[in-house]
Amino acid sequence: MTVDDAIKALSPQALGMVKSNYIIGLGSGRAATAIVRLLSSYMKERKIAIKAVPTSLQIKMEAEKGGIPIIEPDQISHVDLVFDGADQIDAKGNMIKGGGGALLREKILISIAKKVVIIADEKKFVKLLDLSVPVEVHPFARNTAAIKIRKYGGKSHVRLLERGYPFVTENGNIILDCDFGKISNPKELATKIIEIAGVIEVGIFSKPDIIYKVKEGGKFEILR
Ligand code: A5P
Repeated sequence: MTVDDAIKALSPQALGMVKSNYIIGLGSGRAATAIVRLLSSYMKERKIAIKAVPTSLQIKMEAEKGGIPIIEPDQISHVDLVFDGADQIDAKGNMIKGGGGALLREKILISIAKKVVIIADEKKFVKLLDLSVPVEVHPFARNTAAIKIRKYGGKSHVRLLERGYPFVTENGNIILDCDFGKISNPKELATKIIEIAGVIEVGIFSKPDIIYKVKEGGKFEILR
């Protein structure tokens, strides 16, 4: 049994929230991909007309493959439902996201969503967040932002691709992956980092409306 099997098991319930004429925000990554594939069949079988706003080219291509109609972000003022994954989730539902670099667009859609649904493997659940926090930074501020982040206790490095080139986001920025150790107050930290000149977005997200915790053996648990 894989994570995909568990996502298939939870999908009737998760996709049951999708109603006709909904605007659906599509996060990026593996969990989002799995739900997009299921959403495509769900929408076709039930003849539900929806429009989707993808947060990356990766998920846009997946939605196109599944025949899900796309709407441009500048044509919407809200999103009815967001489906997304997460890199780490603490006991209060704070999350680290941005492992795939789509944090800025994910943050924007989540900020205008009526409901946010997160699907994540049980291994990603911790008491306190301690993964490196992805921070999207304008390339001009690569060093100046890193110096400020250091003052807040974060050791940062520029995210690199396998062959050593800097990872460039779809917005033309770089990512500083910042190690703060255990994060006891994620909101406070995010507020400080976002104020640094040149920082575009911080990969700390607050509690979503619904979390599907994907477990071994194709099982899942719902946390609200
Ligand atoms: C994309 O930048 C991220 O925020 C993803 O949502 C996150 O990395 C989770 O991805 P997976 O579902 O692939 O683990």
